[in-house]
Formats: sequence, C-alpha cells, structure tokens
Amino acid sequence: MSTKPLIPVSRRGFLGGSAATLSVAAAKPASAQATPPDQTKPRKKGVTFTLNGRSQQLDADTRLTLLDALRGPLGLPGSKKGCDHGQCGACTVHVDGERRLSCLTLAASLEGREVVTIEGLADGEDLHPMQQAFIDNDAFQCGYCTPGQIMSAVACVKEGHARTDEEIREYMSGNLCRCSAYPNIVAAVKQAKGRM
Ligand code: FES
Ligand code: FES
Repeated sequence: MSTKPLIPVSRRGFLGGSAATLSVAAAKPASAQATPPDQTKPRKKGVTFTLNGRSQQLDADTRLTLLDALRGPLGLPGSKKGCDHGQCGACTVHVDGERRLSCLTLAASLEGREVVTIEGLADGEDLHPMQQAFIDNDAFQCGYCTPGQIMSAVACVKEGHARTDEEIREYMSGNLCRCSAYPNIVAAVKQAKGRM
C-alpha cells in the first residue's frame, strides 16, 4: 500500500505551513492568553447562617470546611475529625434538619442555612433524649464517634428510619465506631425513639 500523501508536500512547504500555524496561534487575542488567576491566593466570602439557634457571621476562606470552621474560629470542637474524607461520620451535623458530613461541606456554602451541632442539642441543662439514651445504654466507650453517632441517630429517628433493629443498623451504617459499641447504640436509638 502506498504511503505517499494525496497532495504532494515538500519539506519546505510543510515547514512553512507549520510556521504559519504557529504565527496564527501567536496572534490570538490577548484575552485568550490572559494569565489564569492565582489559585493559591486565599479568597474570602462572608456568610450569615444560624448556628445552634443563633445568627452567625463568618468571613470564610472559600476552601474552609464547616468542620474546620466549627473546630477553629467558631470554637465548637464537639464535632470530631475522624477521617476528614467523608467515610467515618464522626463530623456529622444537621444542616436544615438533615444530617450532613461537615468535613465535606464548605462553610462558604451555608448562606441562610440552619446548622445544629452536638453542642446545640441539649435544652439548657436538659440533655436531648438521644444524649440521655446513649448514657443509659452505655452506648459509647472512648466516645470519639459519639457526637456524630448522636446527630445521625436523631436524624435517623426523625426520618422514620428506626422501626426495626435492622433498619437502625442500615441507616446508622455511615457512622463508624472503632470500639464497636454498635449493639448499645441500637438500644439507645430504640429508647430515644419513644421520647423524641
Ligand atoms: S471526619 Fe467527616 S466523615 Fe470522617
Ligand atoms: S465509642 Fe470509641 S469510636 Fe465509638
């Protein structure tokens, strides 16, 4: 089979064509060649949201996660950082009444939202029924996963997903406990369900 080009092109012609192509590229408008913005420079965004029942303003670096905002500038270290990758549930909070992994939520995205953390569950000195149930049923050991477990457990009941042990296990499966307090956690959810 012939490998000759359909239109004969001399080496000089080919080089000339390449040079022309390059000069067209070089002649592109300046806007197309503008230097991209420096992604390493921090950018801030002001957000106003409700945090545990109070209006909260935050001038947040657009890369700041809700978890780091809570544990840092907002001074609420109850939500725990386990994996920081959305895999353990230790950082679970409620946003607009639904459970949310705060390590995967950007603080800058919270404008107008309502955030509740483990610090906002109790009613003054009165523990939330789920907090009390965790104590009554010995549902924690080291306690590291407990804030996230409790926030998920409250949502699990409110969602109507606590009808059977199997259902509780299924809907709590995003919250890992390295101490394996699972049977007692299920018992706590069942107890609190009737008191919420
Ligand atoms: S710290 Fe957020 S899921 Fe593990
Ligand atoms: S009680 Fe220790 S990780 Fe759950």
